Amino acid sequence: MNAPTPTAGHLVLHGVSAGYGNVRVIHDIEVVLARGSFAVLLGSNGAGKTTTLRAIMGMAKVSKGDITLDGKSLVGRGTRDIISEGVALSPEGRQVFASLTVEENLLTGCLPASGWRHRRTRLAGVYEHFPLLSKRAAQDSGTLSGGEQQMLAVGRALMSEPSVLLVDEASLGLAPVMVEHLFELLAQINKAGVTVLAVEQNVAVTHYADHVYVLEQGRITMGGATADVAERLHRDIASAYLGRSSPTPDPTGPTDPQATPRDHEGDPHE
Ligand SMILES: Nc1ncnc2c1ncn2[C@@H]1O[C@H](COP(=O)(O)OP(=O)(O)OP(=O)(O)O)[C@@H](O)[C@H]1O
Ligand SMILES: [Mg+2]
Repeated sequence: MNAPTPTAGHLVLHGVSAGYGNVRVIHDIEVVLARGSFAVLLGSNGAGKTTTLRAIMGMAKVSKGDITLDGKSLVGRGTRDIISEGVALSPEGRQVFASLTVEENLLTGCLPASGWRHRRTRLAGVYEHFPLLSKRAAQDSGTLSGGEQQMLAVGRALMSEPSVLLVDEASLGLAPVMVEHLFELLAQINKAGVTVLAVEQNVAVTHYADHVYVLEQGRITMGGATADVAERLHRDIASAYLGRSSPTPDPTGPTDPQATPRDHEGDPHE
């Protein structure tokens, strides 16, 4: 796959509120994706994950704030135009055309129209990332497994040679081993220079990301480097389930987890 231009792929959502008609679903969203970064936006059902991605793609109405790609505003522009600027979406539910072959599905992602003459090179680029799709090129997409259909949805998004790839719930309904495999592939795409934003309910995939954001009821409640957010999530879980804010650290350092009070009996240093 052709690497995106080295200056492309810096996506910023600044104070973004968006929704449908008069209904606001997301509020004051602040998300910064540095060029070449991999972020996961975590949220439960109805938190507003899909709406956030749709706002970026010009498919939900942005009522406040700005969304910029490499400093250029995307707000108010049509979806095709946004794809031409370098953003692509692998949508929720995959939405592959079941009666088209794998290759025909991939070709529907060959946007903008001017990219059509490069379709062979673009297909070759996608097949490099997903050799399995190459093997299945002539197969009807409806006969693919869930994991394969997800690869196809991501591959189709890559056909527009984006600098930013948005992936809506890739892990949904897939076995853990397939989720790992898919995210390994997304990490590989990211290493090739594509900025990735994956929205997920699955906390297990956050270790692939350099940044994690948590979306609750349309608002970002946590965000930062993965290790920091993971620690805060861990503390919140401890607090919710164990009734304490965090495991109390032992000032003397790590202890033998098997040790019982009896182990210390008669210790002359105590
Ligand atoms: N087209 C629409 N018109 C009005 N409200 C909508 C529309 N699409 C979504 N919503 C509402 O916006 C809220 C957030 O939906 P969204 O699909 O963004 O959540 P999500 O985090 O992607 O959830 P899920 O994990 O179930 O996919 C929900 O309350 C939903 O009912
Ligand atoms: Mg959704």
